[in-house]
Amino acid sequence: MSPAGEPVRVQAIAQTRNSVVPPQYVQPPETRPAAKLTHHHKNEAAELSPPSINVAGEDTGRLKDEIGLACRDWGAFSVVNHGVPIELLDQMRRVGKSFFEECDMEQKLKYSCDPNSPASEGYGSRMLLADNDSVLDWRDYFDHHTLPLSRRNPAKWPHYQPNYREVVAEYSDQMKVLAQRLLGLISESLGLPSSCIEEAVGEFCQNITVGYYPPCPQPDLTLGLQSHSDMGAVTLLIQDNVEGLQVFKDGEWITVRPLHDGILVLLADQTEIITNGKYRSCQHRALTNAERARLSVATFHDPAKTRKVFPAFEPPIYHEVMYGDYVSSWYTKGPEGKRNIDALLIKY
Ligand code: OGA
Ligand code: NI
Repeated sequence: MSPAGEPVRVQAIAQTRNSVVPPQYVQPPETRPAAKLTHHHKNEAAELSPPSINVAGEDTGRLKDEIGLACRDWGAFSVVNHGVPIELLDQMRRVGKSFFEECDMEQKLKYSCDPNSPASEGYGSRMLLADNDSVLDWRDYFDHHTLPLSRRNPAKWPHYQPNYREVVAEYSDQMKVLAQRLLGLISESLGLPSSCIEEAVGEFCQNITVGYYPPCPQPDLTLGLQSHSDMGAVTLLIQDNVEGLQVFKDGEWITVRPLHDGILVLLADQTEIITNGKYRSCQHRALTNAERARLSVATFHDPAKTRKVFPAFEPPIYHEVMYGDYVSSWYTKGPEGKRNIDALLIKY
């Protein structure tokens, strides 16, 4: 660690080729990838993954039903034929990967995020600042503030790849359009007006996080990203062809099969609040592996910090919350499972 408290990057640890990970990265037995769960494994043989939904064409009743079912069962689904050019998904993966793999560490560190402020823009490794004894994730990331446009400053983004900034800006715009359409479909799948969830969220505050998971010498002891649900409204995620992302369903961790052309939709906590728990946010985590680095690009769509979020159904089961307060609590208590949203449950 540098004197300024700048944490080391996981990639630098991985490059030492040490056969053991530093102790801060070792998960306690109960959160290790193979930890025994209390539930019985009902689906051991089944090739289970969140459903893949073809969203080409009109927003038909059948499509809304399909989305509604996926939201209820999984809080997650993939979309294909979503209208975003596959070439743009590839470009986003390519420029993201090139920053991590083609820039040297000295150059990368010029883009360091502020380690003392939560969710600051730039290159980092450690998401939580709060307590120093929490176990660390085996991952580095680059966080981009992309929307509203007043937050977007491409000068803070790498340009090692000449088209990096253009690609991120175009990707941001396309993800916004898709997120709007999906929130419309999700609203309608509950019999709400199409604009209901989007209006409850207000103008999107969008961040794009490129996550980079270096190979890990002890994948059984570590997590790339600890179990959490995302804080905002909806997350759109793409990954490369390396498995690692898992979603928690019916007491089991289920690996999400990477889809080259698909975009994974993860419902986040504010959507759970707005839908009054009819749709739950998806709990997920990322594993590491010893052989190959893994890349993901997560695009978060959140309310503004000053936005008050509350259920669209009566009687509400969640208290109203100012989004900024929700975020502060997440960063002080940590994500662990879903305890942040549980704290908002109204006790009747
Ligand atoms: C996240 C996240 C999963 C992944 O950044 O919130 O859940 O596969 N990422 O990187
Ligand atoms: Ni997440």
